[in-house]
Amino acid sequence: MGAYSEAYRLSLDDPERFWLDAARLIDWDSFPTRALDGSRAPFYRWFPDGELNTSYNALDRHVERGHGERDALIWDSAMVPAARRYTYRELRDEVARAAGALAALGVGRGDRVVVYMPMVPEAVITMLACSRIGAVHSVVFGGFAAKELAARVDDARPKVVVAASCGLEPGRIVPYKPILDQALAMSSHRPDHVVVLQRDQQRAELAPGEHDWQDVVPGAAPADPVPLASTDPLYILYTSGTTGRPKGVLRTTGDHAVALAWSMGAVYDVREGDVWWTSSDVGWVVGHSYIVYAPLLAGATTVVYEGKPVGTPDANAFWRVISEYGVKKLFAAPTAIRVIKKVDPKGEGPAGYDLSSLTGVYMAGERLDPETHRWATDMLGVPVVDHWWQTETGWPVAANPRGLEPLPIKPGSATVPVPGWDVRVVDASGAELPAGREGEIVIRLPLPPGALATLWGDDERFVESYLSRHEGCYTTGDSGHLDEDGYLTIMGRVDDVINVAGHRLSTGAIEAALASHPAVAECAVIGVPDPVKGQTPRGLVVLKSGVETDEAELRAELVAAVRRDVGPVAAFRDVTVVPALPKTRSGKILRRTMRGLAEGRDEAPPPTIEDPAVLESLKPLLHLRPEP
Ligand code: COA
Ligand code: AMP
Repeated sequence: MGAYSEAYRLSLDDPERFWLDAARLIDWDSFPTRALDGSRAPFYRWFPDGELNTSYNALDRHVERGHGERDALIWDSAMVPAARRYTYRELRDEVARAAGALAALGVGRGDRVVVYMPMVPEAVITMLACSRIGAVHSVVFGGFAAKELAARVDDARPKVVVAASCGLEPGRIVPYKPILDQALAMSSHRPDHVVVLQRDQQRAELAPGEHDWQDVVPGAAPADPVPLASTDPLYILYTSGTTGRPKGVLRTTGDHAVALAWSMGAVYDVREGDVWWTSSDVGWVVGHSYIVYAPLLAGATTVVYEGKPVGTPDANAFWRVISEYGVKKLFAAPTAIRVIKKVDPKGEGPAGYDLSSLTGVYMAGERLDPETHRWATDMLGVPVVDHWWQTETGWPVAANPRGLEPLPIKPGSATVPVPGWDVRVVDASGAELPAGREGEIVIRLPLPPGALATLWGDDERFVESYLSRHEGCYTTGDSGHLDEDGYLTIMGRVDDVINVAGHRLSTGAIEAALASHPAVAECAVIGVPDPVKGQTPRGLVVLKSGVETDEAELRAELVAAVRRDVGPVAAFRDVTVVPALPKTRSGKILRRTMRGLAEGRDEAPPPTIEDPAVLESLKPLLHLRPEP
């Protein structure tokens, strides 16, 4: 048996032994006497009697072991442009002061802190500061609109919101503080305090009672890490579900630290002192796990990059960062590679840079299509591997575990289930399917450490959304198949979640924005394939009878409504007025059938279809590419 198979078998046959062993990667205030508590299944608890502090493990312990002068975080902003390095000692001290500042504002164990910041070091510092004092952070991605931020504030009920005055996108400054003001005007919950990091590009007006970061953090008394229960909440991260209402994925402390520390070596082959770069955003799970927590838990150097993969005026932003900081491993989304390919189709960029430090590239967020895989591999000359996971899982479910044992790469496949994850492919009745047959991907319970513990404040929704469809299994919402070698291929979502440029969105939220327009009677939004972004949302709207309107004007208003209510991240530009939507006889809109058509699958509609002619009339439209 190879190292991978051995680890995989042990993780499923004897999870106690496997995970207590992995727990030694972490320094505990009180080492757990057992790994899994299943007494309240399906609410499993890992390391139930362990005590630890994540910020201590990410920072202090490396300083105490003599690595205080090693770079912990390198911030590089192509947008300012600027760069700044923090050693482990400096980052620990900054985090301790930020934790002290939060404590002085009344934040304590279990209190929530909403973080609304772009890719600046202070976002990472705030997250780690929360974990130092047992507060629960909830980071909101900057590309969401005020309404989405308000929904998260109302659900998380934070004591403090920490924001930046602005974010920087190519060609424009995004004023974050006015978006926060709008959100707080909409939300029914009021935080006790707002702290604002003032950026020179656009400073914000502060109302009485709002604090400038500079006034509260640098002078604060540093806070020591407090011992927390392994099962204490670490963070809430909202993600899109099938309805417009976001789901607050709750992650707990000890299992998260163990899983991420283990994954850094076993999956990514990253060790102490290596330079690691995840090109994502702290607002997504990839950012939480692999910009912030995992690299620091492992004692590596993490690069925090503010900018897009394509720098101005060339396509070389990625190569500059890799060569400048000696990046060993890069983690990015396939869409980023396709953006580079669009600008530099021959892939000549890397030739101008010393990329000798780079030994591998990891891709996730959407399927790594074989053509993008080939192009990136040819261009970079290092293994490029796909791996699959979700906000809910927190770390990879299927991957090429190169730190354990590099496995052959099969383009199009996310490789094999990672130790801890008992992955099965089933049909609608829950029966397991043989190799090669596509079906729903489920994971048998218990989920390993690091996966979601529940949904914040909503155990019932957690069970209903993930655990009720197939007995004893977590439903991933993705479909795919396993082959004879145990390699998993992901085909896409089976629900109404779409993935636009590596950003997970709910079509329900976009539909709600369209439906708020007074002229719209009903609407449907589906994801359609896009050569660069993977998918883009396409809206089909039916107008109320008797409405006379200029269609171009209406379309512009609908696009603006989605930007206003969901945010620019929806990248919503494509909406068409149609006479009717295809439905079942009970009135359910046939979104799945339409999506299949858009993806080129001309499957027969369900027998319950109300009027087949309506679907026929939409076919040419569903095959159309969006207008440029
Ligand atoms: N704050 C404010 N606005 C933001 C934002 C943020 N953090 N992120 C994106 N937006 C805005 C963009 O400015 C753009 O606005 P526009 O309509 O005015 O142009 C809109 O949202 C759409 O942005 P995006 O989809 O990111 O398109 P893009 O062309 O700017 O960039 C990519 C394309 C592929 C480079 C970028 O989407 C990307 O890096 N994606 C990878 C995501 C990822 O890392 N996912 C995690 C898995 S690894
Ligand atoms: P998120 O929760 O934002 O990380 O998005 C998770 C979803 O993105 C998954 O359910 C998949 O649909 C998709 N996804 C992520 N990684 C991959 C991958 N490697 N291959 C295919 N789809 C992926």
